[in-house]
Amino acid sequence: MEVIRIPRIMQDTSRGHLLHSRTLGFVPTMGALHEGHMSLMRMSKEENSVTAASIFVNPTQFGPSEDFASYPRKMEADIAKLREADIDILFLPDVSLMYPEGFATLVEVTGLSEKMCGHFRPGHFRGVTTVVAKLLTIVRPSRAYFGQKDFQQTVVIKRMAKDLNLDTEIVVCPTIREYDGLAMSSRNTYLSGEQRAAATVLYRSLCRASDAIKAGTRSGAAVRDMLQQDLSREPLITGIDYASVFIPETLDEADEITGEVVLAIAARMGSTRLIDNMLVVPSFSH
Ligand code: PAJ
Repeated sequence: MEVIRIPRIMQDTSRGHLLHSRTLGFVPTMGALHEGHMSLMRMSKEENSVTAASIFVNPTQFGPSEDFASYPRKMEADIAKLREADIDILFLPDVSLMYPEGFATLVEVTGLSEKMCGHFRPGHFRGVTTVVAKLLTIVRPSRAYFGQKDFQQTVVIKRMAKDLNLDTEIVVCPTIREYDGLAMSSRNTYLSGEQRAAATVLYRSLCRASDAIKAGTRSGAAVRDMLQQDLSREPLITGIDYASVFIPETLDEADEITGEVVLAIAARMGSTRLIDNMLVVPSFSH
C-alpha cells in the first residue's frame, strides 16, 4: 500500500492511473476503522481497478463543543486493516496541508444542510462538503463510497456532486450493524457497557416503526410518536434531537406516508450522540 501525505502527489498519482484507463475507487474516512468502513473498501475493490482510502479527522466539521480533540485516533491499527484489505493507496494529509494559512473557501449545500442533524450541528455539513469537495478534487476518483449510516451526509454530498458537475459517481452502501443491531460507529467506543447494551433501542425502535408502516400506518405523526415513545422508555437516553419520518429527497418531515420514506433518529446517551436510520418502502396492498 502506497501512503501519500501530500495533496499534489496524490493528484499526480491519481492522474497516472486515470491516464492508463484504470478506474479509481475512493473511500474517505476519519479513521478508527470498523467493519462499516471496511465494507465500503470491499465494495470499491469489487468495482474499480484501484482503490484509495483517506484518513483525515476534519476539524471544520466539528462544532466548538464537539469531540474533535477526543475523536478516536488509531493510526497503526487502521493501517494494518487497510493493508490486510489490500487497499492500494492511503491518502493521509496533515491539517496544515488541507487548510494552509489563508484558506478561505467554503462549499455549502444550502437548505439540505440545515435540516435534521444540521439544525443541531450548525456548520457541520459545510465542513463535510468543504473537505469532501477538496478530497474529490485531489483524488479525482471515478467512484466515491459513502455509508447509508450517515444518510443526510449522502444526500448532501450527492447534491454537491451534481451541482458542482464533479466527475465522480457517488455510491451509497448499506449500514453495517453489530450482532444486536447497533449501527457500527467509531463513536460507539465512547459508550460504557451499560450504555452500549441500551443503545440497541435505536435499531429496535426503527424496526418497530418500519413494521407499523409496512402494516399500513400512513400518518407521519403516528410514526414519530411511536419512535419517540420507544426512545423515551430507555432511561439511558438523555435527549432526543429528532426521531421522525422524513422524505429522502428533501429531508422534510413526512406528514403522510405516500412513498419511500426514511426513519431517522439522533439521540444522546450522556455526552455521546448516536444516529441511525432506515429506508422504508410501504406496501400499498392495504
Ligand atoms: P467516518 O465517520 O469515518 O465515516 C466514513 C464513511 O464510513 C462514511 O461514508 C460513513 O457513512 C461510513 N460508515 C460509518 N459507519 C458505517 C456503518 N456502520 N455502515 C456503513 N458505512 C458506515 O463520515 C465521515 O467519516 C466524514 O464525514 C467524511 C465523509 C470522511 C468527511 O470528513
